[in-house]
Amino acid sequence: MALIFGIESSCDETSIAIVENGKKIIAEETASQVSTHALYGGVVPEIASRHHLENISVLVQMVMEKSKIDPREISAIAVTYGPGLAGPLLVGVSYAKALSYAWKVPLIGVNHMLGHLNAVFLFDDSIELPCLVLMVSGAHTEILYMKSMFSYEILGKSIDDAAGEAFDKVARMIGLPYPGGPQIERAARSGKSIYNFPKPRTKRKYDFSFSGLKTHVRYFLRDNKEIKIEDVAASFQETVTSLLIEKVVKAAKEYGISHVVLAGGVSANSLLRKKAKEAEENERLFFHFPPLEYCTDNAAMIAAAGWQYYIRGAFADLNLNVVPNLEVGM
Ligand code: KG4
Ligand code: ZN
Repeated sequence: MALIFGIESSCDETSIAIVENGKKIIAEETASQVSTHALYGGVVPEIASRHHLENISVLVQMVMEKSKIDPREISAIAVTYGPGLAGPLLVGVSYAKALSYAWKVPLIGVNHMLGHLNAVFLFDDSIELPCLVLMVSGAHTEILYMKSMFSYEILGKSIDDAAGEAFDKVARMIGLPYPGGPQIERAARSGKSIYNFPKPRTKRKYDFSFSGLKTHVRYFLRDNKEIKIEDVAASFQETVTSLLIEKVVKAAKEYGISHVVLAGGVSANSLLRKKAKEAEENERLFFHFPPLEYCTDNAAMIAAAGWQYYIRGAFADLNLNVVPNLEVGM
């Protein structure tokens, strides 16, 4: 049995968790800074770093007390080392190194995107490999062909903004606060998808481009004053979610894949989930999502991913450094 101690601080949540064998959450505590950054319309890295620093020891203490686990029972400390914001990542990585040294427990550097992926594997045993992964977060949009936990091919990715970033930027344009994804989803509930926003085309068939769509919405808002922002939210959400599902379904067919995993913050979107359900019925595919509360950043997914590194003996040493622009992989 392996108990992995997970630390996540790449953006605006400080989170600590202990997970057994990548499957069972023993304890977890998260402090979200969303309301602080909402005041500024987005994450302010310097403020985020300071909050991580204030929160991290308290959360570690809470998790140790709740779990009643002795540090000597911990098998490894798994920490996000990238991608993310440099200052916030540094807080988690420095803390993890100190704990690793003090507790005499090995250290593991986890790729945050593998963390998001493991938020699905943590709760779902029915995923068959090879599968496709649609990674949709605030900074990533990718379709991956996943052969095994650490073996991927990137079939396509966004050539400009990430899907979550597009949600955040369009939300801002129509006067909704940060983070924009859940706000657009809420506004869209009382609106109708009546505007036909263009689906941006890309040279490579599984790539995405969202910046043109964002600009289109900007000019649309400038030129049309008598509109309901709820209808704009609904139309934008319809365009992005159908684009995401259409491309991943097309890739699944081409590669003869029947299981598709959706991960990252945008996978919380209920229209995206509804469209995936429809594709399941129409295209004989199986879609897998993280539970809603594990779509956004949390340490349980980092500890679950850490276990995958642990069973491969992929440890880091005290020279581990942050890599803010780390690609998907190890
Ligand atoms: O994965 P995540 O927590 O952070 C990154 O690693 O980037 O994703 C955050 C992103 C934000 O852009 C946020 O607006 C988006 O996920 N998001 C959503 C929803 N909930 C969060 N986008 C669309 N619909 C949602 N319900
Ligand atoms: Zn994330």
